[in-house]
Amino acid sequence: MNKHLIANDLETLDRAHVFHPSTHLAQFARGEAPSRIVTGGRGCTIVDRDGRESLDAFAGLYCVNVGYGRDEIADAIHAQAKNLAYYHAYAGHSNEQVIRLSERIVSRVGLGMQRIYWGLSGSDANETNIKLVWYVNNVLGRSEKKKIIARQRGYHGSGIMTGSLTGLPLFHNAFDLPRPPILHTSCPHYWRFAREGESEAEFSQRMAAELEELILAEGPETVAAFIGEPVMGTGGIIPPPENYWQEIQAVLKKYDILLIADEVVTAFGRTGAYFGSHTYGIEPDLITIAKGVTSAYLPLSGVIVGEKVWQALEKGTDELGAIGHGWTYSAHPTCAAAANANLDIIDREDLTGNARDTGAYFLKRLKETFESHELVGEVRGVGLLAALEFTADRQTKAPLDPSLKVGMKVAGALLEEGVIARAMPHGEILGFAPPLVISREEVDKVVNATRRAVDRVASGL
Ligand SMILES: Cc1ncc(COP(=O)(O)O)c(C=O)c1O
Repeated sequence: MNKHLIANDLETLDRAHVFHPSTHLAQFARGEAPSRIVTGGRGCTIVDRDGRESLDAFAGLYCVNVGYGRDEIADAIHAQAKNLAYYHAYAGHSNEQVIRLSERIVSRVGLGMQRIYWGLSGSDANETNIKLVWYVNNVLGRSEKKKIIARQRGYHGSGIMTGSLTGLPLFHNAFDLPRPPILHTSCPHYWRFAREGESEAEFSQRMAAELEELILAEGPETVAAFIGEPVMGTGGIIPPPENYWQEIQAVLKKYDILLIADEVVTAFGRTGAYFGSHTYGIEPDLITIAKGVTSAYLPLSGVIVGEKVWQALEKGTDELGAIGHGWTYSAHPTCAAAANANLDIIDREDLTGNARDTGAYFLKRLKETFESHELVGEVRGVGLLAALEFTADRQTKAPLDPSLKVGMKVAGALLEEGVIARAMPHGEILGFAPPLVISREEVDKVVNATRRAVDRVASGL
C-alpha cells in the first residue's frame, strides 16, 4: 500500500495521535474499535466523511439542544470574535455579552438566585461548587462542616473532586477515586430498587430516611452539601420517583445542608420546563449549568449562586480580601455571545414547549412499542429525556449478563438503522436525549428504528 496515502488517511492519524475520552484506548489504537469522523450537521442529523447520515437522538452528549447548523449562532460568534474575542473578568472587568446573559438567566430561574460564576465545562463548574461550599462554611465558622453527599449512579464530571462526586465505578477505577470528604447515598431508581409492595411515595420516604441515617452516622455538623441532578442522566436517565425532591429537601433543611442542583443536562428546556428545578419544585442554593446554555456551539458553564451562599461570599471577601478563585476564560465574551444567540432561539421557537409536547409524544410511542417487549423491563422519561432498560426477565427484573453487552448491541444495530442513541455506561440501558427541535416525524423514525434494532438483538440472544 502507498505509504503516503496511509500517512494522510485521517483515520490512521486519528488512531495514532488523538487520545479519545471514554474510549477503549488499546482497541481503538489497534483498529478494533470503530472510528467515525464527523464532518457536518443540520437540525437533528449529522453526517460523516463517508456521506453516512445519522439522526442524532442523543444531541451529541445531550447538549446540541437547538440542533446542528444554526447560522444565527455562528454569526453571533463571528461578530463577537471580530469585535472583542476575549478579555478577562478578573478584578471587575466585564463585557456586554456576559452581563446580558447573566441577567437573563438569573431572572428566568428565579428561586432567589443572585449571580453566576462562569466556567467552561460542567466538571469545572462543579469543582467551583465544592470550593464555594467549603469557603462559605469556613467564613461562617463551621470548619468541620465539609462533607458533600452525592448519590450512587449520579454523574457530576470527571475531575478529581467531581469524579469523586460521580457515583459510577467506571469513572473511579484505577484513578484512586472517590476521595474524601465525598459520600454517596442511595440511587432513587424505583423500578430497580423498590421493595415488594412499596409505593413510589413510600420509596421516596425511604430514600430520605437513608439519607438522614447517613447524615446522623457522619454527624450533621460535618455535612455541608448534597448534590443531585433533577433527573439522573449518565447513571441511566432516571426521573425522580413521586415526591422524592420534597422528601430530600426536608432532610437537608433540618440539618442546615446546602443543596446543589446539577442542571448540566436539565437546564434550558430539556425537561419541558425552563429548568429541571422548576419541573420538580427544587429550591437549590447553587445550580450548575453547561451544555444547553450554548447548545455546545462553544464551551461554557456556570454556577448560579443563591442568596444564602452569596451573602457568605461577600462576608468572606470583606474579611479575607478578593476571592482566590478564577479561570482565565471565566465570562468569555465569545462563548457568552453564542449563549445569548442560543437562548434567543430557545425562546423564539419555544423549544421548552416542544420538549414538553413532543417529549410526551415520544414517551407515549416508546411505551406503546416497548412496554410488553420481552427484552424491556422499563420505559421511562420526562420531557425530551427517555430510556429503555433491558432485562433478562420482565417478572423478576433480573439483570442481563453484562458480557452479552445488550445495550451496546442495540445501540450498534440502531446506528445501522441510521439513528444514534446512547448505550449508557452503567447497566443495560439505551438512552435518548434528542435536540429539542425534534419533530414528531423524526420521533416516529427513532421509535420504529429502535423497535427493529431491539427485535434484531433479542432474536440473536
Ligand atoms: C449532570 C452532569 N454534570 C456534570 C457533567 C460534566 O460536564 P462536562 O463533561 O462538561 O465536564 C455532566 C456531563 O455529562 C453531566 O451530565
